[in-house]
Amino acid sequence: MSRLFEPLAIGQLEVPNRIVIAPMCQYSAESGSATDWHMIHLGHLALSGAGLLILEATAVSPEGRISSADLGLYSDANEVALGRVLNAVRAYSPIKVAIQLGHAGRKASSRAPWEGGTQVPSRSPDGWRTVAPSAVPHGKEEEPPIALDRDGLDKVRDDFVAAAQRAARLGIDGIELHAAHGYLLHQFLSPIANHRSDEYGGSLENRMRFPLEVFDAVRAAVPADKPVWVRVSATDWVPDGWDIEGTLAFSTALKARGCAAVHVSTGGVSPEQAIKLGPGYQVPYAQRVKAEVGLPTIAVGLITEPEQAEAIVADNEADAVSLARAMLYDPRWPWHAAAKLGAQVEAPKQYWRSQPREFKDLFAGAAFGQR
Ligand SMILES: Cc1cc2nc3c(=O)[nH]c(=O)nc-3n(C[C@H](O)[C@H](O)[C@H](O)COP(=O)(O)O)c2cc1C
Repeated sequence: MSRLFEPLAIGQLEVPNRIVIAPMCQYSAESGSATDWHMIHLGHLALSGAGLLILEATAVSPEGRISSADLGLYSDANEVALGRVLNAVRAYSPIKVAIQLGHAGRKASSRAPWEGGTQVPSRSPDGWRTVAPSAVPHGKEEEPPIALDRDGLDKVRDDFVAAAQRAARLGIDGIELHAAHGYLLHQFLSPIANHRSDEYGGSLENRMRFPLEVFDAVRAAVPADKPVWVRVSATDWVPDGWDIEGTLAFSTALKARGCAAVHVSTGGVSPEQAIKLGPGYQVPYAQRVKAEVGLPTIAVGLITEPEQAEAIVADNEADAVSLARAMLYDPRWPWHAAAKLGAQVEAPKQYWRSQPREFKDLFAGAAFGQR
């Protein structure tokens, strides 16, 4: 029996297998609202057979967007537009759908990757002045952010809550808070970006304070049956940056507050990061969080082969695997994995006739006949 295709509980959410589609920004929204691109993109991923689809980093405020084309959930129009996509997905797919809520902090006001990904100056029509824990820019030559004051912190926290409430209203199955990849919550955690001298900076306890306040506020604002979890960067890959010890402490504090899982990535806070890339290169960090904190963990990063994914779960290195680029390259990755591992997967009935002869039990419940 394949362990990858066993169900997984994330809080009270039952996920039918352990393949997660990682959040992937599409830079294709209009004023934060999902477009037909999202219908097509999420529509085809929803037919993949993965257990859980995590929607791209979704900004809790306009100034929290990475780019001016980011998805957002800060207005009624955003809520209606995303509701349209979710309704279509639900009409044709049993996939569980979570949303990643985020604020880009000092990495906001950027160009899309295909336009170079560089900072957009605040004076240009598509740019704005960013906010962050401290007035320290991401890149040395970049326009510095404004350090958040008390009112600013309260606004960010309240924006997270309002977006989470909108997500809950849309019937979303889970909420992932983005505290990874050098965005705002990670900026608070990391001494590279956080130079504050108040109760939100300095010691590890102080640097964790704001992300934990946001977690508490979101957790309290959504129904108890909706799991809330966090994506972290387990290391900055920079000497004296955020590291695995901090990640373990943060995950332990989150667990005590009712966090349902940890999605373990790395990097993103500094252009000086020196990442050691290789297949499954971030899995050892997920393994430590799982072993030492005991929360369900999702491993991510260069997981591309079914046997590799199976081994990660079977060897208890993580509870689930999440895939980004491999899913874009092959949106039927979970079908092919199920075929290789001798498991069953959900496929839409319209496609049942595509089941290859040699995999007679591949699609759950598949049957067809004709006159
Ligand atoms: C097109 C694209 C968009 C991404 N957008 C996000 C995002 O919105 N939020 C996030 O946490 N990570 C994002 N990532 C990172 C992925 O979720 C994932 O962690 C990373 O690509 C490593 O996994 P992979 O080797 O399976 O691609 C993105 C990656 C890609 C390729």
